[in-house]
Amino acid sequence: MSTGQDESSVRVAVRIRPQLAKEKIEGCHICTLVTPSEPQVFLGKDKAFTFDYVFDIESQQEEIYLQCIEKLIEGCFEGYNATVFAYGQTGAGKTYTMGTGFDVNIMEDEQGIIPRAVKHLYKCIEEKKHAAIKQGLPPPEFKVNAQFLELYNEEILDLFDSTRDIDSKNKKSNIKIHEDSAGGIYTVGVTTRTVNVEAEMMQCLKLGALSRTTASTQMNVQSSRSHAIFTIHLCQTRVCPPLDADNMTDNRIIMESSQLSEFETLTAKFHFVDLAGSERLKRTGATGERAKEGISINCGLLALGNVISALGDKSKKVTHVPYRDSKLTRLLQDSLGGNSQTVMIACISPSDRDFMETLNTLKYANRARNIKNKVMVNQDRASQQISALRSEITRLQLELMEYKTGKRIIDEEGVESINDMFHENAMLQTENNNLRVRIKAMQETIDALRARITQLASDQANQILARAGNVYFYHLNCYMS
Ligand SMILES: Nc1ncnc2c1ncn2[C@@H]1O[C@H](COP(=O)(O)OP(=O)(O)OP(=O)(O)O)[C@@H](O)[C@H]1O
Ligand SMILES: [Mg+2]
Repeated sequence: MSTGQDESSVRVAVRIRPQLAKEKIEGCHICTLVTPSEPQVFLGKDKAFTFDYVFDIESQQEEIYLQCIEKLIEGCFEGYNATVFAYGQTGAGKTYTMGTGFDVNIMEDEQGIIPRAVKHLYKCIEEKKHAAIKQGLPPPEFKVNAQFLELYNEEILDLFDSTRDIDSKNKKSNIKIHEDSAGGIYTVGVTTRTVNVEAEMMQCLKLGALSRTTASTQMNVQSSRSHAIFTIHLCQTRVCPPLDADNMTDNRIIMESSQLSEFETLTAKFHFVDLAGSERLKRTGATGERAKEGISINCGLLALGNVISALGDKSKKVTHVPYRDSKLTRLLQDSLGGNSQTVMIACISPSDRDFMETLNTLKYANRARNIKNKVMVNQDRASQQISALRSEITRLQLELMEYKTGKRIIDEEGVESINDMFHENAMLQTENNNLRVRIKAMQETIDALRARITQLASDQANQILARAGNVYFYHLNCYMS
């Protein structure tokens, strides 16, 4: 398995929600237009933005999952971290898209990203186990852990903590954020649930989602008043897959190396982030507690915006990224500019009265496209060493084979070289191939000439027959007369 690095940009999708009944009744016009078969959206007449994906009003939840998220779950099985976060104005459809709302009446096709991802994850686990058994290999072992946090008024709260007092006014917790030596971010003091089956995970999610802080504002009857981060940790111990067989000529070597059943441990974490919406207090009508929440939400999002600008702005050559300005940016540090494949879904409203907010969201999303992450396989140190040693052994075996077959030689002075016979053989083989091509071409000419001869012979026979027929009629006429 390769542990090489690979640069990967943050991918950005835009989703336009349908107009709500209220907007239709109040006579709002649609001010967004998606260019057909292009990931481009026009806001008003002249403001065009291009993204990695654009999902128009009628797009379905499944489409979004398949195009943006499915591959990320598959990547987790190869040891890659992933993050998907929904950003946008309040009421723009973030919670709906992420599926964090857990509405009891929801239809299956309306399920959002998180329930679909959970289903997919457990399906993949079963498939991987079956595939290994079919090949006669020991099945891989999986451990799935989940955490569910909310960031409310700059405080990290644990949504899986059943003992916490949901209604307490001063929500406090002892959760701490730490950074490991490789720059990975982790939390201490958070409930971690080990979940073995899909139904149990769904149940945990529902309970967590229900204790999330929501409230009604003028712009969204069930507005998320906190940022929610749901995290799945996947740990997999499996038999090392066979080495890349490119450039290997001797199948025996490949077979020998795959017979050594070594195990590797791969880990991956998948963050699902449903941010609270950016809002203007005038429009949400927030006062008192709601206003305090709104201000805190906007502060977190402002800090996120600054991090995105710092990471995405190539021209300024920014050296300092202000991750520590808010807990939100600190928690998302390795998803932005770190080791994670990241998708940002910018949710927007199509209505003209939200024009300014939509424009801001699109500008924000556009900056995120410039962010480059360093995506690496999370493989444990022992497995990394084993992989390196295995490729070294294969390389040496190949070299030894070359000495045995006489391709490589060492002369009296100890200088290594490739045997002349080998070069000559290669040249003869090329010549042989050229001659084969020539023979094939000649054969085609012969076939064409043969067809021509047959055609001429049949024409000639027809002519003789026609002439013989004429002579017969002449004699017959003479005889009759
Ligand atoms: N694609 C969609 N199709 C149908 N209804 C949608 C869609 N997107 C959003 N909605 C509806 O719009 C309303 C607001 O959506 P949602 O609560 O997801 O917004 P939000 O962006 O999470 O807002 P907030 O920031 O206030 O939490 C909900 O009633 C939701 O059902
Ligand atoms: Mg929401």
